[in-house]
Amino acid sequence: MSWQRKHGRQHLPWQGTQNPYRIWLSEIMLQQTQVATVIGYYQRFLERFPDIQALAQASQDEVMPYWAGLGYYARARNLHRCAQAICQDWGGKFPSCSQDIATLPGIGRSTAAAIAAFCFRERSPIMDGNVKRVFTRYFGIEGVTSERSTEQRLWHTAEAVLDAAPHNLDMTAYTQGLMDLGSQCCTRSRPACTSCPVQNTCYAHMHGRQHELPTPKKK
Ligand code: ADE
Repeated sequence: MSWQRKHGRQHLPWQGTQNPYRIWLSEIMLQQTQVATVIGYYQRFLERFPDIQALAQASQDEVMPYWAGLGYYARARNLHRCAQAICQDWGGKFPSCSQDIATLPGIGRSTAAAIAAFCFRERSPIMDGNVKRVFTRYFGIEGVTSERSTEQRLWHTAEAVLDAAPHNLDMTAYTQGLMDLGSQCCTRSRPACTSCPVQNTCYAHMHGRQHELPTPKKK
């Protein structure tokens, strides 16, 4: 958490808010798109659709131009369907726990947990591509991460870390810190272990196995 506050990303347009609509929009855009690309899209989208009601009331055809260029267009269609579901089934208020959030179209367990952590301080772990790399290396978790059994071990490990963490843990800094560690230090090739705050207790670093973890997929 202190590493995140000092070295992590601090001033992105979706940081410093707990507005679930804004956090949700950013997390969906960031699923398959780099931060630098997302920023402009995020701002234009919010100007045209400032809240969930504005998005739900628009037609699919009005929404798509604001996504054009971002790719993975199913995300935009789900976004729109999700806004309509929230207005119809949730009284226009974003559901406030990750279990409920994960029932919405296009929102999986990790995205639901990220939204709940940033908006509602919920202590639920995330496990996206960056975080999988951090966990496989730090804990020495072998196995292809897209396989069910490996994925299950990753989730259990992430849950155990939170269970063992102090009660006053800052879920925003913790969650963002894992994402930032994965993208700034614990990169796929040539990880920056010398600037990593947990290098001394990292399995991969201690055993010089950074390049063997995560276990590569067979080709
Ligand atoms: N990728 C997914 N969520 C992110 C976030 N909150 N900040 C930076 N990159 C992300």
